[in-house]
Amino acid sequence: TTPYSLLILPGDGIGPEVMAEVVKVIDWFQANRGMRFDVSHDLVGGAAYDKHGTPLADKTMARAQEVDAVLLGAVGGPKYDDLDFSVKPERGLLRLRKEMDLFANLRPAQCFEALADFSSLKREVVAGLDILILRELTSGVYFGEPRGIHDDNNNPENEGGRVGINTQRYTSGEIRRVARSAFELAKRRGNKVCSMEKANVMESGILWREEVQWVHDNEYPEVELSHMYADNGAMQLVRNPRQFDVIVTDNLFGDILSDAAAMLTGSLGMLPSASLGAKMANGRPKALYEPVHGSAPDIAGQGKANPIACILSFAMALRYSFDQGDAATELERAVERVLADGVRTPDLMGPEGGTPVSTSQMGDRIVAALAAGI
Ligand code: NAD
Ligand code: IPM
Ligand code: MN
Repeated sequence: TTPYSLLILPGDGIGPEVMAEVVKVIDWFQANRGMRFDVSHDLVGGAAYDKHGTPLADKTMARAQEVDAVLLGAVGGPKYDDLDFSVKPERGLLRLRKEMDLFANLRPAQCFEALADFSSLKREVVAGLDILILRELTSGVYFGEPRGIHDDNNNPENEGGRVGINTQRYTSGEIRRVARSAFELAKRRGNKVCSMEKANVMESGILWREEVQWVHDNEYPEVELSHMYADNGAMQLVRNPRQFDVIVTDNLFGDILSDAAAMLTGSLGMLPSASLGAKMANGRPKALYEPVHGSAPDIAGQGKANPIACILSFAMALRYSFDQGDAATELERAVERVLADGVRTPDLMGPEGGTPVSTSQMGDRIVAALAAGI
């Protein structure tokens, strides 16, 4: 069989630290489950800027288009805060998402039993939580034109004399395709979709609501659909998150709601994501897998980062890119067992204590749990 091709882009800050643990997991599956991976490594973000003067070299972009899946750590950091906007680390990630046309960003939030007491919310609110936020990833205010910072010359009353502009823009086609993904995902889960926008104040929100409803009525009438204003959605997510199954929302609301959802699971260090595009000729979707968290400059280089979000992102790659659902479940179970054993990186350490471990020890424990089996 031909090996699966993987492009690993560790990035900045804790990115390389958590990715090193994913590599251990990949090696384990190669050695023990007959899988073969053709792995290449390259730079993204600040690391790419330091070497090439750009946060994503054209050669890396081209490779990302060819491989079966891209695994990304995280980008950004204070060292790059003063760079020109066009070469900031985050632009490298946004270019990957846009040019690969990864419009469907799956951000599942599951509360592992062992962490239910550790969430900043009460156990009875989060125990058993299993929701999926589907974030539109290639349009909206992140990419809309016009955009920029301009002099506001004709307006003497504007103190400071400048104006910053971004545009929220969605086409009906962009909304319909992500809505379809939401209904398809819901059919394999709880069969329920809640769409979030602000149709009460934004025309793009009115279009969003109408088009999601259109896809529902014409193609997925059997899936339960509701609509919610995103501000109320944020409140409901914290008040009673288990009322949701799949949440579908735009690029910016999805960014914010998924960080909030992270705390339902105990730590931002737990949340994986898959960014999927259209199917390629071989039937696989264009795909990039990354943790939801960033480069965590406050803990970088100290062995404190939780690698689970990145490891669970690889589990999503096994499921969505390689059709290895059983292996994905096996990996998720291994993570669950390690957490049940009380193994804790500092972000997971609560008053009830546990066995404190470093990033690398957490990776080793997960590999050991894989090897030990059920
Ligand atoms: P962040 O996600 O990097 O960190 C937020 C907080 O969560 C920090 O206290 C951090 O220590 C903690 N945290 C994050 N991941 C953790 C992990 N795996 N284990 C333990 N603790 C973890 O967000 P930020 O501080 O707002 O951003 C820092 C940089 O990362 C910025 O440059 C930002 O643009 C970038 N960023 C990148 C991505 C990405 O690459 N996908 C995502 C978010 C932010
Ligand atoms: C995320 C991040 C990114 C975003 C940044 C780093 C570009 O916050 O993946 O959630 O805003 O999409
Ligand atoms: Mn974010």
